[in-house]
Amino acid sequence: MQCCPGRSDSDGAICVAEGMSSVLPFEIKRVYYSYGVKEGILRGFHAHKKLQQLLICVYGSIEVTLDDGRGMIESIILDNPANGLYVGPSTWRTIKWLKGNSVLLVLASEHYDESDYIRDYNNFLAWRIKQEG
Ligand code: TYD
Repeated sequence: MQCCPGRSDSDGAICVAEGMSSVLPFEIKRVYYSYGVKEGILRGFHAHKKLQQLLICVYGSIEVTLDDGRGMIESIILDNPANGLYVGPSTWRTIKWLKGNSVLLVLASEHYDESDYIRDYNNFLAWRIKQEG
């Protein structure tokens, strides 16, 4: 997803993501970023029950693999700060730092709540089956 509407000229670019817009279908309640991560490191390994997020690699190169628990698995490389990746609830994510010191900025729809995490893959699959039923 293109994050900008923004502005770009010979002095550089500015990228804007406003809540409840065509870019971002939720109000932003939390912003955080991960940095100081070495090349090759894998993070994530969880899903959320309710949380929606927009992931932006503001510097470097990061591969995000999304798994919907129903057989759809896709990998997306984030290496352009003008782009954001929307990740909805009930999506298992694995995040690989392709370049050391890449910075991953996350805009989130909810405050931090550990009970919203599903950190075990089998529990995630069970959660998806429960949702279908
Ligand atoms: P986590 O969301 O698991 O990040 P990653 O998948 O990138 O490793 O969070 C890592 C740790 O940080 C975990 O112990 C929870 C804590 N944390 C907070 O306390 N508040 C937050 O807003 C976030 C995102 C994480």
